[in-house]
Amino acid sequence: MPNRGRKQRKNKKAPGESVKILISGPRIQRRIQALARQIRRDFPDEPLHLVSVLKGGVFFLTDLARSISGEVSFDFIAVSSYGHDTHSSGQVRLTRDLDSSIEGKTVIVVEDILDTGMTLQYLLKLFQQRKPKHLRVAVLLDKPDRRVAPVRADYVGFSIPNEFVVGYGLDYSERYRNLPYVGVLSLDSKLAKKVAEK
Ligand code: IMP
Ligand code: MG
Repeated sequence: MPNRGRKQRKNKKAPGESVKILISGPRIQRRIQALARQIRRDFPDEPLHLVSVLKGGVFFLTDLARSISGEVSFDFIAVSSYGHDTHSSGQVRLTRDLDSSIEGKTVIVVEDILDTGMTLQYLLKLFQQRKPKHLRVAVLLDKPDRRVAPVRADYVGFSIPNEFVVGYGLDYSERYRNLPYVGVLSLDSKLAKKVAEK
């Protein structure tokens, strides 16, 4: 069907909201395979301990963990840094700690997106104090234009422009995490004004 692709690119979601595909599901999967190989090449003989940040990093973690060969374990941490809109509060708070110690382990922090860098700056400082053998960062998405804290990721899936994105773990008010792709969220002008005023 000739216009099916166009229709799929701009899907109507909740009233006043639409999501336009930025990175398709298959593209995400291909990139994760490549990242997994790269990570294993960098640490050929080491057990790897993936630490994911709830909830946004979960799909990235599960796909990445299944694509890395050899010994892999994982754990979760949760922080809150965003409220219910598309603006960061800039404050990071630990809401759930890891189950096990990371001392002496080769740790890869697995995050959905590196935006201002405040979250990762906070986490890296916390983890460094716990004496891991190696500490690396893997992010699916990087928005370099938004950086405030001097943080860089060792493994980056995609560098993206300064747009609010949802899907593949990323949410807008807890919605859209389950989309198999990453898309740019647009709000109609009335709603956008309401969000900006919050
Ligand atoms: P940072 O602390 O500003 O780097 O932001 C990190 C967190 O903010 C991410 O883990 C996401 O939960 C959230 N975030 C940043 N940008 C976006 C976005 O475009 N869509 C959805 N969540 C985002
Ligand atoms: Mg997150």
